[in-house]
Amino acid sequence: MRHLLSTADLPLHEALAILDTAEQMAAVNEREVKKLPALRGRTVVNLFLEDSTRTRISFEAAAKRLSADVINFSAKGSSVSKGESLKDTVQTLEAIGADAIVLRHWSSGAARQLADSGWVRSAVVNAGDGTHAHPTQALLDAFTLRRHRARAAGVDSTGTDLAGMHVVIVGDILHSRVARSNVWLLTALGARVTLAAPPTLLPVGVDAWPAAVTYSLDEALEDAPDAVMMLRVQAERMGGAYFPSAGEYTRLWGLTPERFGRLLERPGDVLAEPLVMHPGPMNRGLEICSAAADSPRNTALEQVANGVSVRMAVLHLVLNQDTPTPQEDRP
Ligand code: CP
Repeated sequence: MRHLLSTADLPLHEALAILDTAEQMAAVNEREVKKLPALRGRTVVNLFLEDSTRTRISFEAAAKRLSADVINFSAKGSSVSKGESLKDTVQTLEAIGADAIVLRHWSSGAARQLADSGWVRSAVVNAGDGTHAHPTQALLDAFTLRRHRARAAGVDSTGTDLAGMHVVIVGDILHSRVARSNVWLLTALGARVTLAAPPTLLPVGVDAWPAAVTYSLDEALEDAPDAVMMLRVQAERMGGAYFPSAGEYTRLWGLTPERFGRLLERPGDVLAEPLVMHPGPMNRGLEICSAAADSPRNTALEQVANGVSVRMAVLHLVLNQDTPTPQEDRP
């Protein structure tokens, strides 16, 4: 794998290779010494031109656990704020020694542009571009779901897929790169996906996505979801009024205590106890109530932890394609 740009064009065998490699990385992360020599001498640049907590820190942890040198770059305090272009910025970073550029950018398509431009030789990993794609988030979500499915079936997660699972993705689909990346990846892995959102928060052309669409969250909750993925309402991307008020949004689209109670009572298609997922950061009291946010059924922190293993796998695969697997790397 040369770059990781989106899940829509990620071949299934590569997605499974990332998930299986992430299982090996997860085993490393359970050790007392969470370190492999796989990327010794390589430099990973985290180029984050849009805010992030989870993705930036977990890419940093992932690169360090693989023994890479890590350079963290943010727009604030850099020459980007003086107007330096993306081309000049990445060429500067490569002159300093970058082997991989992990890019978060406000513009949809920025990662693809960087990979196709010929500006740099580095591997490019998309850490979220505008409303377009967030492939490592979808991979860590799939990894989390796969582990729960495997545990329920009493089998090993490695080599398995998400066949039979039903995932409901709820809320601000329009602005969500997480939803876009998950729809393509989860369905490729065999899951059934339903999008539950108000019409104003669904993109034009959603009918062509491989997912069912409903305007009723309550209806979706009746359909035996194994996981309900609550999306953050992305107020920073909303120029207009997409719903009448925050209270109205919560009433119709929020995982309220009452809806959460109903979810707890029903088994999913595969999981006896359905999960609540959230990519973070959560807007408590808007799309998710605190009872659901703080519940053991909420996998938000498990997703964050799994993100380190998945990002270790991605960095390993884009930078070290011909080297031994982590299993063989072990001292
Ligand atoms: N899920 C996610 O991308 O979170 P951050 O914006 O904090 O990285």
